[in-house]
Amino acid sequence: MQSFDYCTPTRLIFGKDAIKNLPEVMRPLGKRVLLAYGGGSIKRNGLYDKVKELLADFEIYEFSGIQPNPKYDPNVLEGVRLCKEHNIEVILAVGGGSVLDCSKTVAACAKYDGEPWDLISYKVKAKAALPVVDIITFAATGSEYDKNSVISRTETNDKFSYIDPLLYPVCSILDPTYTFTVSKRQTAAGCADAINHIMEQYFCETSTLLNDGFMEAGIKSLMVNGVKCLENPEDYEARAEMMLACTFGCNGIYSLGNSSSLWPCHCIEHALSAYYDITHGEGLAIITPRWMKHILNEKTIGRFVKYGVNVFGIDAGLDPYEIAEKAIEATYRFFESLGLPMHLKEVGIDESRLGEMTRHIAEKEGLENAWAPLTEKDVMEILTASL
Ligand code: NZQ
Ligand code: ZN
Repeated sequence: MQSFDYCTPTRLIFGKDAIKNLPEVMRPLGKRVLLAYGGGSIKRNGLYDKVKELLADFEIYEFSGIQPNPKYDPNVLEGVRLCKEHNIEVILAVGGGSVLDCSKTVAACAKYDGEPWDLISYKVKAKAALPVVDIITFAATGSEYDKNSVISRTETNDKFSYIDPLLYPVCSILDPTYTFTVSKRQTAAGCADAINHIMEQYFCETSTLLNDGFMEAGIKSLMVNGVKCLENPEDYEARAEMMLACTFGCNGIYSLGNSSSLWPCHCIEHALSAYYDITHGEGLAIITPRWMKHILNEKTIGRFVKYGVNVFGIDAGLDPYEIAEKAIEATYRFFESLGLPMHLKEVGIDESRLGEMTRHIAEKEGLENAWAPLTEKDVMEILTASL
């Protein structure tokens, strides 16, 4: 087991009407609030009005229109400008992972006097950040419980993971009922994203019985509850379990002491999203089974067997390669059963820019050092198989 230093300082308030705690959470952080949200889902489901009512005695400044796959320009720059102009004391992010990621980045950049990209690109280390409180409305990324943010820069086709402990939200309010209005398409994409977060941690060199158990249970829970959420979007228990499983997905708790895999599917998908602005979870559903197939070999087979037997209940007595192939097929069929696109062409990606994207990934992601190393040629084969 590898050594680690772990701390997630975020308070989680979970359950129906958890929002009633909002004023008490916000009061010690300041009166001047930047209310950050996306394209309007929170207005349609009544959450916006509820927040305004609960924070009636705060000074609220609005930061709306944050896009999915949030952009450095205009989203981050606009948020930083608003924080500085209104001397904001605390950011309240209400929405999905994109709203949270953008708000977390803005929180750090607002406390920095130079060009915000200096921080995101790690040229300069942030010294401080505004506090962020969030109400997450979409179970997927785990942004509500991690120190990550993912920001796209359109002109260079970069999708950067900006990671810093200063980005942990102070408090996340999780009410599963706010996810009832998430569309079937997005629910399926969120489920695929969260499953892949666990797989990126499961498929690695060294793990433990403890972590494997957590992760196998996490994947099974997401699979069972993902289906239930699609069948009945207002199934509280299913939405609740899905939400919690997603929350744990990205903050490292599933893989304490494990070696890192370098998250290859995410590295590949982030390039797809950067070039084509596709939905993150859909890209992952397409890539994951092809990546599995590509990396299956003598070195990796043990993890596939464990995954196949413990997640899908495949007969442990079969030949290891038969188990692995059945496990890959079952993963593919599961994503397909959620109604997810399973080919790049279905999300508007053809062969025309594959070369550009694979070069970009090879130059920026360092996947030749992954547990299952990927050269530029390997990435090209995975993408070609995904067409
Ligand atoms: O913008 P609004 O109107 O709010 O609509 C959103 C958006 O169109 C909608 N939505 C959210 N909550 C809803 C709802 N619609 C109805 N009812 C609700 N309750 O869903 C759409 C997608 O939202 P978005 O926030 O983009 O989705 P998601 O949470 O999947 O976030 C994706 C972003 O997170 C990054 C991805 O790369 C992508 O940029 N990631 C962040 C991570 C992290 N911070 O740790 C890790 C992930 O691996 C991921 O890379
Ligand atoms: Zn993800």
